[in-house]
Amino acid sequence: MNTQTNEHHPWAEPYKIKMVELLRMTTREERLAAIREAGYNTFLTRSRDVYIDLLTDSGTSAMSDRQWAGIMLGDEAYSGSENFYHLEAAVREFYGYKHLVPTHQGRGAENLMSQILISDGDFVPGNMYFTTTRLHQELAGGTFVDVIVDEAHDPENTFPFKGNVDLDKLDALVQEVGADRVPYISLEGNVNMAGGQPFSMENLKALRQYCRKHDIPIMLDATRTIENAWFIREREAGYSDMPVRKILREICDLTDGCTMSAKKDALVNIGGFFACNDDEVFKKAQNLVVVYEGLHTYGGLAGRDMEAMAQGIRESVTEEHMAARIGQVRYLGQKLLAAGIPIVRPIGSHAIFIDARRFLPHIDQEHFPAQSLAAELFIESGIRTMERGIVSAGRDPETGKNRKPKLELVRLTIPRRVYTQAHMDVVADAVIDVYHRREEIRGLKMVYEPEYLRFFQARFEPLT
Ligand code: F0G
Repeated sequence: MNTQTNEHHPWAEPYKIKMVELLRMTTREERLAAIREAGYNTFLTRSRDVYIDLLTDSGTSAMSDRQWAGIMLGDEAYSGSENFYHLEAAVREFYGYKHLVPTHQGRGAENLMSQILISDGDFVPGNMYFTTTRLHQELAGGTFVDVIVDEAHDPENTFPFKGNVDLDKLDALVQEVGADRVPYISLEGNVNMAGGQPFSMENLKALRQYCRKHDIPIMLDATRTIENAWFIREREAGYSDMPVRKILREICDLTDGCTMSAKKDALVNIGGFFACNDDEVFKKAQNLVVVYEGLHTYGGLAGRDMEAMAQGIRESVTEEHMAARIGQVRYLGQKLLAAGIPIVRPIGSHAIFIDARRFLPHIDQEHFPAQSLAAELFIESGIRTMERGIVSAGRDPETGKNRKPKLELVRLTIPRRVYTQAHMDVVADAVIDVYHRREEIRGLKMVYEPEYLRFFQARFEPLT
């Protein structure tokens, strides 16, 4: 099988453009005014002031003509919408779980799962935290415990499976608190906060064995798991000839259920789901979803959203789509590496992560180097990126102190099917220009800090 597509165009876009959205370019003065107004937080800038938007790959994909056609097929019935059954069929076919509960997006599913499975005082191990995932675990009375391999915390380490679970760390937790205090292990595909890094199938199989022995379910965060499947095919012995969709199924078959933000892999602007195999857990999720989201056959979505998602899932597992997706991110990453820019390696699937510690070694972590760099990139070029460092990590709920993550990163996240190679060239040039004058960049101080997920709304001022 030709997994890398055509040899002459290793990742040419497998589509042509039918409609365009015009971009607005701004002056440096306009951008300076905009970032000041936004409290030096790219989350608070207005989209109209952004030239190339690399804030997130979440909900920012371009839908296909077939997905838009699906929007017109919305069956907007309160109950039993036809689109729900299409979505259920797609999830069963490609993810393989028996039961599906749609939610408005990923964190809706995380809320349901955390409330159902976690009891007060439980410990939830995971291969690195994700912001919303951990918060829902904590709100349900649990304590998150990081059990990812050490390599994941080192941006320069090129280990191919930095998303792997360290079974010794997991076992140490189970020995300490007892398996009955561990309701499940939270396993994320292509670990976002580590730089979009995959786990290996070998690691997942070993984890399955361990968890079977201790009767601990594995709950997958399936948000970017097709991208994880792609890396397994590229890097793991025995998978080089397997279609990516089969690898995805094999991953899901080794787990007990999942939460999904369909705004990523599944190519929609809104949507998510919880899926599982256990009948009792499903019944509870079906019941709880009516409290927070909506009836169990729409979960906070319109019928048309579910149709677009069902079609998006089918497109997302194709080889051509995935080759272009991974290829575009890698293209940008290789340009930056060639220019000596410190980025997380190996290059991940959904984003390039600049290592702000090495980019701005003169700024102490308490002065938010990644936040400063994200603001500077916006001022330089109108490119909007996201901090993934000390601001995102938040405070320890016990001590109230800042968590100090080893990774202090700026994420340049690439939306799916949206930007061209020429845009990637502009991004690379902007980053390189800022790198050449990096000594001028100063840190920030936080002047407003909201209680939950502070990175979304915190405000900053430059240090004088
Ligand atoms: N899990 C992962 C791994 C995610 O990356 C996200 C969202 C979620 C869960 C929550 O899903 O946003 O649909 O509620 N990540 C976005 C990002 C926000 O930019 O990385 P959601």
